[in-house]
Amino acid sequence: MNLGKNFKGFLIAIEGIDGCGKSSLSENLISELNNLGFETVKTKEPGATPLGQYLRDILQNRTFDIDDKAEFLLFAADRAQHMHQVVIPALQSNKIVISDRMADSSVAYQGYARGLNIDIINKINDWATNSIKPDLTIYLKIDYQTAISRVKHRYNKNEQELTHFEKEKEEFFKKVITGFDNIFKIKDKDKVLIIDGTQNQNTIILQTLEHILDKIKIKKKLNE
Ligand code: TMP
Repeated sequence: MNLGKNFKGFLIAIEGIDGCGKSSLSENLISELNNLGFETVKTKEPGATPLGQYLRDILQNRTFDIDDKAEFLLFAADRAQHMHQVVIPALQSNKIVISDRMADSSVAYQGYARGLNIDIINKINDWATNSIKPDLTIYLKIDYQTAISRVKHRYNKNEQELTHFEKEKEEFFKKVITGFDNIFKIKDKDKVLIIDGTQNQNTIILQTLEHILDKIKIKKKLNE
């Protein structure tokens, strides 16, 4: 799908393993961008639409077995609805969209960690998203030990159950990390920002905000 000229918004995906700090970063970036006068939409996968909320609950709190292929197709269904209902309308009205995870999460989790065929995942993702890709993906890179201790701390504090994915073993998360590392090694360097997720939040916000503002300026100029 070609969204056309005259800017047409800016799509940012934030990726990384559970506990890498994606959710705080997307909240902070949205408030910084709003303060600068941009119109923004904060969103996520899975779970940004009414259909997505059902799918997220099934995927995270399942009480029955879900086959790996079925798991991926549920994420893809969430993704198709998310693009149709949230992302495309926001881009068409020239907004800055920040999504906590997008298609690369399926490549890392269902492809690299679960072992599904990555070419098929990429094809279905492409179909589900109408070939719309993020203008910029921020990869918050963090080691397994730091991530898992953050996840455990968060859940001990809130006295909440760990989700299906958070209960996975170290070996699974190490494969997810390798997956993300490989995905971003081969992507167009212009569209990726790799950030050390163990740094303090303020440093991360400054590094990412500056980069985002530069990229928006360039896209605006090109699409005038
Ligand atoms: P999060 O919203 O807290 O990041 O949780 C979503 C969980 O779902 C997280 O553990 C990663 C997982 N996930 C996949 O396995 N594949 C996907 O395509 C997406 C979007 C998320």
